[in-house]
Amino acid sequence: MKTKIPFFDLAVQFKSIEEEVKSALDEVFRTQQFIMGSKVQVLEETIAGYCGTRFAIGVASGSDALLLSLMALGIGHGDEVLLPPFTFFATAGSVSRLGATPVFVDIDPETYNIDPSRIEEKISSKTKAIIPVHLFGQCADMNPLLKIAKERKIFVIEDAAQALGAEYQPVSEKSGQRAGQMGEFGCFSFYPTKNLGAFGDAGMVVTDSTDLSEKVRLLRAHGSQPKYFHKWIGINSRLDTVQAAILLVKFKYLEKWTGERQRKAERYRLLFQELVSSVDGIRLPTVQYQNRHIFHQYVIRVRERDRLREFLAEEGIGTDIYYPLPLHLQECYTSLRYRRGDLPNSEKASEEVLALPIYPELTEDQQSAVVDRINAFYRK
Ligand SMILES: Cc1ncc(COP(=O)(O)O)c(C=O)c1O
Repeated sequence: MKTKIPFFDLAVQFKSIEEEVKSALDEVFRTQQFIMGSKVQVLEETIAGYCGTRFAIGVASGSDALLLSLMALGIGHGDEVLLPPFTFFATAGSVSRLGATPVFVDIDPETYNIDPSRIEEKISSKTKAIIPVHLFGQCADMNPLLKIAKERKIFVIEDAAQALGAEYQPVSEKSGQRAGQMGEFGCFSFYPTKNLGAFGDAGMVVTDSTDLSEKVRLLRAHGSQPKYFHKWIGINSRLDTVQAAILLVKFKYLEKWTGERQRKAERYRLLFQELVSSVDGIRLPTVQYQNRHIFHQYVIRVRERDRLREFLAEEGIGTDIYYPLPLHLQECYTSLRYRRGDLPNSEKASEEVLALPIYPELTEDQQSAVVDRINAFYRK
């Protein structure tokens, strides 16, 4: 009988922390304080400390983290925001929801992150912000991007939804610049499958600016200050106490889990070495010089992606495709008039990427089986 290797397995993780989670939930149930509350505040302080920022504001999702950051910067109708098309829809959707226009910048084919050398040609008098996405757990190439943003007076909002704890080019051996601390805002998602995942939707905005943190804090609760008096038009995007309590339990294990992911990525690299040197057209993830990649996803690149995926599915191995259609070619953006061929690196990546199982609980045997089956596909 074939062993089933799921693409992710949250049940195994839950088993290891079940008692702690239940007792944290019991505490919330006893207080009956479900909206905001002290757990949310503790989580905000914890995440700010972890990201090296002065402030963190808990919100309802990673998508809302992006939306609220854009709102706090006053971005709206007539404005343009630069971002890569090879990302989850929320990166662009948040811009469009405010009536601003996403302007897509192609990616670097090695890292899948925004290519800084393509940014200047897309800047216009309407450009207000850039949203680099730290895709799969690796920071975008921020130094050239930040330099352009500073010179052209453009805001930077980091979409760090997949990159909690990632670092960009450590300045010392100990620590680098953490994802989320380099732009005006950093936006995180605690979607259940993220490296730090809630039991539902949750997100966080981090920033070093007192004014901007205050603004997001108000905007997430309908812009009211004091209660029932509205300074701005905000939204309801509060973080549930229940989610904060669970996230605080899981946070204690985040570094350990990240280490496991990194070890598994290194093991994939070693196990795939022979295949990569003998078969043309297979590429493993590239870690940019000195980056701390947290391997939210382990994404390989193969020409015969769809056939390989089908073969692995038949063998009981779960995989996924992030992302099958770049955002500039999505139906909802037809009016922006992009054509196939406009952003070739993103389009080609969409045809070739394949995410393999990588999670702290993936066993050595399971991982070896994934590699073995991929080898078998190429030996057929
Ligand atoms: C790159 C990226 N941006 C934004 C989001 C949105 O986060 P959420 O699903 O928490 O709204 C996600 C998560 O799915 C993501 O991967």
